[in-house]
Amino acid sequence: MTSAAAIPAPLHLPAGGSLRGTVRVPGDKSISHRALLFGAIAEGETRIEGLLPAEDPLSTADCLRAMGVEVSPIEAGQPVLVQGVGLDGLQEPGDVLECGNSGTTMRLMLGLLAGRCGRHFVLSGDRSLRGRPMRRVGEPLAGMGAQIHGRKGGNFAPLAVLGQPLRGTTIYTPVASAQVKSAILLAALTAEGPTTVIEPAQSRDHSERMLRAFGAHLVVGGSAANDVTVTPGPALRGQSVVVPGDISSAAFWLVAAAITPGAELTVENVGLNPSRTGILEVLQQMGAAIEVRHARDVAGEPVGDLHVCHGPLQAFDIGGDLIPRLVDEIPVLAVAACFAEGVSRIRDAEELRVKETDRLAVMARQLGAMGARLEEFADGLAITGPTVLRGTAVDSETDHRVAMSLAVASLVAEGATSLARPEAAAVSYPGFWDDLARLRA
Ligand code: S3P
Repeated sequence: MTSAAAIPAPLHLPAGGSLRGTVRVPGDKSISHRALLFGAIAEGETRIEGLLPAEDPLSTADCLRAMGVEVSPIEAGQPVLVQGVGLDGLQEPGDVLECGNSGTTMRLMLGLLAGRCGRHFVLSGDRSLRGRPMRRVGEPLAGMGAQIHGRKGGNFAPLAVLGQPLRGTTIYTPVASAQVKSAILLAALTAEGPTTVIEPAQSRDHSERMLRAFGAHLVVGGSAANDVTVTPGPALRGQSVVVPGDISSAAFWLVAAAITPGAELTVENVGLNPSRTGILEVLQQMGAAIEVRHARDVAGEPVGDLHVCHGPLQAFDIGGDLIPRLVDEIPVLAVAACFAEGVSRIRDAEELRVKETDRLAVMARQLGAMGARLEEFADGLAITGPTVLRGTAVDSETDHRVAMSLAVASLVAEGATSLARPEAAAVSYPGFWDDLARLRA
């Protein structure tokens, strides 16, 4: 029997005060997964600096260890060493590969394992991940010869992969998803003949940049817009990877400073890959006082420091090809919209319904409880501002980005907020609550 004491208490978030100082957000989640995965199938050692020490990359590392890859302990501030086993060196694991809450782990792993001939793999995850669509990866991989089975016609984990010889092909993906694209690129590395992936809009391109740095034969934009072609052949070589701070984590501080009276923050060492900087464009469209400082290039990714101050904000209107460039920032942009003058509109964002939670529904429910004036549509939200939000009982509903977005809203609400399931933040930003306390002090 579960006792009441086993349920963690909601977090008390007092209103009022301001935010000042400098913060370094943890390493980029997308880049961290890729550095581990590519390092595992390279030859020689890969050294990763700044890897995100959070639950999602830990899931990727544990899956790799279960297949015989040596990955050194993942601890904040310590470089991580991966001893590569080569393109086809992964061993059949003796147990289920547990992907936790991590869609990136499961989807990229499908691509990595589909071509491991004669080996059998089972992938599963937490309740949220077992409800997220996987056919979007399984179907294109099946077109290359993969055998992937799962619940509901292969759409839901647990998934079973029986490694097969794969053939290169041309794949038009139905959604702009870097997870789908990256899974196909990973499978393509050992297929027979080249594989081309064509996306409806460009998704984040970390895989392309890093695979090339590891020595893969990869061409971007060879024939169509948003196409990537991998020609199998060269072995990958272990690299030294430096992971920049995650702009998706920085986004919470950018919005927090923009909406909190008197606030002034600098977020250091943030990855500014153009396929991820949609959030900056929208904040600029809103009139936020935000500046990029010390723009530089670090190990193949653009990086800079972001300085942001409180100021008046205008409503925004976003949709189309911009959505994949800020897909993870929409929950916190919904918070920003509550403090902007006019009606903000988010369209073409139906992908949010299949993230860690249905983020359109969850944000509408939770911000609605705080008094936000919003309307939910199949593919987005319309939010009227400015509104004085009121502190009340809210719930992350187990979603890390919802937890942190609601914490940002609580800063400028009237009265204290109590947030249930705040521990969800550890999926991508375990130090978030400590950083919040420090910046408010
Ligand atoms: C990710 C891609 C995005 C993003 C996710 C991480 C990645 O998902 O939402 O948090 O690392 O490739 P989709 O590719 O499904 O849009």
